[in-house]
Amino acid sequence: MKIAFFDTHQFERNFFQKENEKFGHDITFFETRLTEQTANLAAQYPCVCAFVNDRLNSKTLNSISANGTRLIALRSAGFNHVDMKVACDLGLHVVRVPEYSPHAVAEHAVALILSLNRKIHRAYGRVREGNFSLDGLVGFDLYKKTVGVIGTGRIGAVFAKILAGFGCQVIAYDRVQNSELLTAGVQYVSLNELLKKSDTISLHVPLTPETRHVIDEKALALTKKGVMLINTGRGALIDTRALIESLKSGHIGYAGLDVYEEEEGIFFENLSDQILQDDQLARLLTFPNVLLTSHQAFLTDEALGNIAHTTLQNITEFEKGNILSNQNVRAKHLKR
Ligand code: NAI
Repeated sequence: MKIAFFDTHQFERNFFQKENEKFGHDITFFETRLTEQTANLAAQYPCVCAFVNDRLNSKTLNSISANGTRLIALRSAGFNHVDMKVACDLGLHVVRVPEYSPHAVAEHAVALILSLNRKIHRAYGRVREGNFSLDGLVGFDLYKKTVGVIGTGRIGAVFAKILAGFGCQVIAYDRVQNSELLTAGVQYVSLNELLKKSDTISLHVPLTPETRHVIDEKALALTKKGVMLINTGRGALIDTRALIESLKSGHIGYAGLDVYEEEEGIFFENLSDQILQDDQLARLLTFPNVLLTSHQAFLTDEALGNIAHTTLQNITEFEKGNILSNQNVRAKHLKR
C-alpha cells in the first residue's frame, strides 16, 4: 500500500525499511510534520503514517480525507493528537501500536528517578571540567521510600514492579486494579492519598479530558515538600505553569520530564542554533533539579523494532480487508 510517512526521523527509518522487506509497502518518507498546512502532501496516499506531534485536527483530517486517504496508521500508543470523532465521522480508520515495549518507557522513568536523585546529570558535567568535589550531590536511599504510581496499565505496572524491587513501598491510583500488582504488595489508594503520601510520583495515565492537568496547583499543594515528580506520560497531564511556581517556591524537590505540554514543534528537532521561543520551557531548563528529555522514553531497539512491525502489520491487515487488531475502539463500526 502507498504510505505517506510524516515527521520521519533518522532514528526510526532503518527499522521501517528493514521491516518493510517482509511487507512490501510503498513508503514515502516526509520529514515535515503532518499539519493542516502540509496535509496536501498526502494526496493520493490511501495511508498516512503519523507520529505523536503530528496535528490530526479537524482541518487536517478533512483535507487528507478529501484527498483520498482512508487509513491513519499511528506509530504510537497514544492517540490524543487525533480528533477521533472527526476521523470517525469522515470514515477514516485509525490504527495504532498499543504496546511495543512497556519496559522501555518504565525503565526510562526509573532512569530519570536515579539520575535526579543521585544528580548524575550534574556530576557528569562536573568531573569533565576537573571538578571532583561532592558538595551539592547528596541524594537519598530509594529503599523504603513511598512511590506513587498514577496509572497501572502496561507501563505503570512494569514501573511499579521495578520500584518494588528496589524495596520501595509502592502505592497506586487507577480506576482498574491490577491483581498481579496487588499480589506483589502494591496498595491502591485514592488520588489525594497518593499525592499526600508519596516521596516520588510517576504519571502513566493516557491524556484524556479527565486526566488533563491531573497535576495542577491544587494537586501540587497536597504533595509532600521535596516530592519528586516524574512524567513520561503526556505533557498536559501536568499544568506547567503550576509546576514552575512550585519549583520556584522550593516545594517540588525534583522534576523528571520526558514530555512537555507544548512539545509539538520543539521535541524531536535540533534547535540548538536558534533562540528558544517557549518561555515556560526556557524557565524549566534553568532549574538544577529538573531533568528534561525530549520524549525519548520509547527509544530502544526493541521498541522501535516492534513499532515498525506492528505499524506495517496494521496496514497490511487493512489492505487485505482483514480484521484490524489495533483499530481504535470508537471507529470499529466503520465500513471498509
Ligand atoms: P495503558 O492503557 O496500558 O494504561 C493506562 C492506565 O491508565 C490504565 O490502567 C487505565 O485504567 C488508567 N486510566 C486511564 N484513565 C484514567 C483515569 N481517568 N483515572 C485513573 N486511571 C486511568 O497505557 P500504557 O501503555 O501504560 O501507556 C500509558 C501512557 O504512556 C500512554 O497513553 C502514552 O500517553 C504514554 N506513553 C509515553 C511514551 C514516551 O515515549 N514517553 C511511550 C508510550 C506511551
